[in-house]
Amino acid sequence: MGTSRLILLLLLLFGFSITTSADALEQDNDINVRLPTALTPNHYKLKLQPFINGNFSVLGYVELEFEVREPTDSIMLHMLDTDIVNKTVKVFQKNNQRSQQILSQTYDGFRQFFIVKLKHRMVVGKMYIISMDFNTTLNKRRKGFYRSSYINENGVKRWVASTQFQSTDARRSFPCMDEPGLKATFDIYIARQKNMTALSNMPLAVSKPIDDSEWVWDHFEKSVPMSTYLVSYAVFDYKPITIPTADGRTKVKVWTRDAVGNKAIYGGELSYKCLKFFQSFFDVKYPLPKLDIIAPPEMSPNAMENWGLVTVRESGLLIDEASSANHYQWVSYLMAHELAHQWFGNAVTLKWWTDLWLNEGFATYMADYSLSKVSPELGTMEHFVVNRAQASMALDALSSSHPISVVVNNPVEINEIFDSISYNKGGSIIRMMKHFLTQETFREGLKNYFTEHMFKSAEQDDLWRHLDTAARKLTPHRLPDGHTVKEIMDTWTLQMGFPVLNVKRSYLPSHLYANISQQLFSFNKNSTRTSMKLWWIPITEIHKGQTFQYEPKLTWLGKQQGKMDNTPQDDRWLIINVLQTGYYRVNYDERNWELICLQLHENHKAIDVTNRAQIIDDALNLARADLLPYGSALKVTSYLKFEHHYVPWKAAVNGFTYVMDMLMHTPHYGPLKEYLLSVVQPVYEHLGLEDRSDDSLHTKELRGMIFKLACSLDHKGCVSAAKEMYAQWIADPEGYKVPSNLGQSVFCTVMGLSDRNGWEKAWQQYIITTDATQRKAMRHGFGCIKETWILQRYLSMAFDQKSGVKQQDASLIFGAVARSSVGEMVAWNYLRNNWDHIVE
Ligand SMILES: *[C@@H]1O[C@H](CO)[C@@H](O)[C@H](O)[C@H]1NC(C)=O
Ligand SMILES: *[C@@H]1O[C@H](CO)[C@@H](O)[C@H](O)[C@H]1NC(C)=O
Ligand SMILES: *[C@@H]1O[C@H](CO)[C@@H](O)[C@H](O)[C@H]1NC(C)=O
Ligand SMILES: *[C@@H]1O[C@H](CO)[C@@H](O)[C@H](O)[C@H]1NC(C)=O
Ligand SMILES: *[C@@H]1O[C@H](CO)[C@@H](O)[C@H](O)[C@H]1NC(C)=O
Ligand SMILES: *[C@@H]1O[C@H](CO)[C@@H](O)[C@H](O)[C@H]1NC(C)=O
Ligand SMILES: [Zn+2]
Repeated sequence: MGTSRLILLLLLLFGFSITTSADALEQDNDINVRLPTALTPNHYKLKLQPFINGNFSVLGYVELEFEVREPTDSIMLHMLDTDIVNKTVKVFQKNNQRSQQILSQTYDGFRQFFIVKLKHRMVVGKMYIISMDFNTTLNKRRKGFYRSSYINENGVKRWVASTQFQSTDARRSFPCMDEPGLKATFDIYIARQKNMTALSNMPLAVSKPIDDSEWVWDHFEKSVPMSTYLVSYAVFDYKPITIPTADGRTKVKVWTRDAVGNKAIYGGELSYKCLKFFQSFFDVKYPLPKLDIIAPPEMSPNAMENWGLVTVRESGLLIDEASSANHYQWVSYLMAHELAHQWFGNAVTLKWWTDLWLNEGFATYMADYSLSKVSPELGTMEHFVVNRAQASMALDALSSSHPISVVVNNPVEINEIFDSISYNKGGSIIRMMKHFLTQETFREGLKNYFTEHMFKSAEQDDLWRHLDTAARKLTPHRLPDGHTVKEIMDTWTLQMGFPVLNVKRSYLPSHLYANISQQLFSFNKNSTRTSMKLWWIPITEIHKGQTFQYEPKLTWLGKQQGKMDNTPQDDRWLIINVLQTGYYRVNYDERNWELICLQLHENHKAIDVTNRAQIIDDALNLARADLLPYGSALKVTSYLKFEHHYVPWKAAVNGFTYVMDMLMHTPHYGPLKEYLLSVVQPVYEHLGLEDRSDDSLHTKELRGMIFKLACSLDHKGCVSAAKEMYAQWIADPEGYKVPSNLGQSVFCTVMGLSDRNGWEKAWQQYIITTDATQRKAMRHGFGCIKETWILQRYLSMAFDQKSGVKQQDASLIFGAVARSSVGEMVAWNYLRNNWDHIVE
């Protein structure tokens, strides 16, 4: 699942986490909410008739075949927001029609259990079947089997029924054993009206009309063994686009509402490319005969990896000529991420949500890696360093962070761990591991992991074991003597935070070495001082004159201190953490920092772009943590006036934004602004405002980012350009298009200068704009206005169902307001005053 969570934003903005108070669940944390282990599911037969064009009821029938593992007289199934027709509940032994006598049927709301007690114990080792009729409602909460709508080209409202089951919402659609480790096969039947289409994980087997009605039963082929959270179905009037596939075996289709179908081709084609890539990289076939990708009008996460039936928001799928470079990256990433899950997560599933980070971290890393192969122009491996590793470190250095592997039990806790730490830190340490093991070992270990656990579930330690075995066979010299992959990885997954490596070189020609030591990197000085944490740190180094490459020679630091020999001559720089494959920061002695600075000024291209981003991010964050004087850190950044690559600039902008926020209301802001403008100006001029046909994607992204930075520093040319583009657009919204890479900054800059009238005029325009890119830019822009009462109203609209704002966009709007210096307090107060309403 690709996530955008309010809680994550809060963590980011306010530096502490808040626990939602879903009433039913906060009473007692000691009650075990897991299913007993006495029964294991084997097969479901599920029939659903959703009245999508009627009263939104769903009539259901389920038959669950299970095996008895331990003596018991009760059957417990997960169930929520469902009514069971009591008298239809039947239990019998397989191949024995005589019903078991039922003593009672009860519902345990706290554990979300439907409990059937039998008069007699069931026989261990035998198969039983429980069956029942039930009904649910196609809800509007984007959970379970839910409904959302769109307006078609004839102005008619059309409903779409689709599912979102991860993590614990399959139980909202049918009674089931709703834990990821409890896999079963599924026979799914969906009733639909003849003018609608129904889809599920598997291809259609047969359609049968229901009597003489306008209804049809679609029966889908029996599935492979799978977890309940990956089950999916949909009913809609969408039309498919068939993506040509080379192997002829896998049928790939993209389904959207009619009006936007042609904008979904890119996403569909890219998905197929990723599918082919993963098939050959893992050397494991995609196990299903088809892949459908659908874009329901509304959904909670950005995308969801349902096996064979991926769902994605329209804003995460559609692309046209007007799309920004950022948007290309986003759509590509989402598709690759969900495709990676088809293997990692779907074929082999983690037993319990505690290992969620591994599922998501893996998909995060493999998405970018696969794109670097199938779509190299995206430059994803360079982006990874700033957008995932560095982004994660920024959060992971706060006291509010958490270990990526966390014990979770109830549904609220499970939902809380879908955050940037799980995704981005997870992805970053998997990338680190891949490079200390080598690609060859990584692939071998994975292949064995998939082969052994195919269609089953596994734990974190199973993966470590397979990788360890592969490493001992292929690359034993890459591991520290006498230590295992598990020992190394546990230091990264079981404790929160990450280390900073302190490097002190000796420059005596007769004695060239460096002392190294590790310590927790934290913005909270107290925790730095008291921490006794240690990590197994893979250390890679490069000297002036050597070539940058993945997987160079490696040494390990597992203790607090160590020594490096053979450091370079006193006139040569030393850089540790080559291509920033390691999830740690590095601080050097003053002299080495100066040597690096000198190199950046003389010829920055002698240092790989990834390490340029690393140096900037490390320097600015070390300064923030008081481990390096700000003067030295800013000196490192002064070479940026010659820098024309997006990635180092992105690292710089992250760091600058923090300093600007901190100094905004102090006398130091003037000199800071002057310095930053002096660095930005040459690059702003070099890039200009218009995309050129031979620009790479990263140049376009850089242009958008530099424009944004310049405008936020009140760069005169930038502000007047923004005003002019906006004026042209408002005068002729149909004809004139604001350049897509600048859109967000143009709206933000102009809104920042606008009063009530300006806002209202823009809002009127927003309501009638259909272009998704423009609408998104505007939603951000509205958060930049300086009048607090308007911001207040904007927030109310975001959380008001009648305002015309889609519920799924509420967190984006909250973020847009909270991010500005004026809006920060407005958002914080709004959140506290409206907590219950927002949670609801
Ligand atoms: C399909 O038919 C039903 C029943 O006649 C009707 O209510 C619904 O609007 C139709 N849907 C479409 C997409 O034509
Ligand atoms: C919804 O409509 C169906 C079919 O007309 C009917 O069987 C069902 O009872 C209705 N449900 C509710 C809650 O009214
Ligand atoms: C029907 O089953 C539910 C549990 O699903 C229970 O709460 C209810 O009391 C039962 N009703 C009757 C009439 O037995
Ligand atoms: C089930 O159907 C009954 C009557 O048809 C309805 O009152 C009830 O709300 C439905 N239950 C759910 C959970 O939708
Ligand atoms: C390295 O550590 C040793 C032992 O603590 C110390 O004597 C030496 O001065 C250190 N060297 C440098 C360059 O800091
Ligand atoms: C750090 O520790 C000191 C002394 O124990 C304490 O007074 C101070 O509040 C702590 N600061 C933080 C940010 O925890
Ligand atoms: Zn995911």
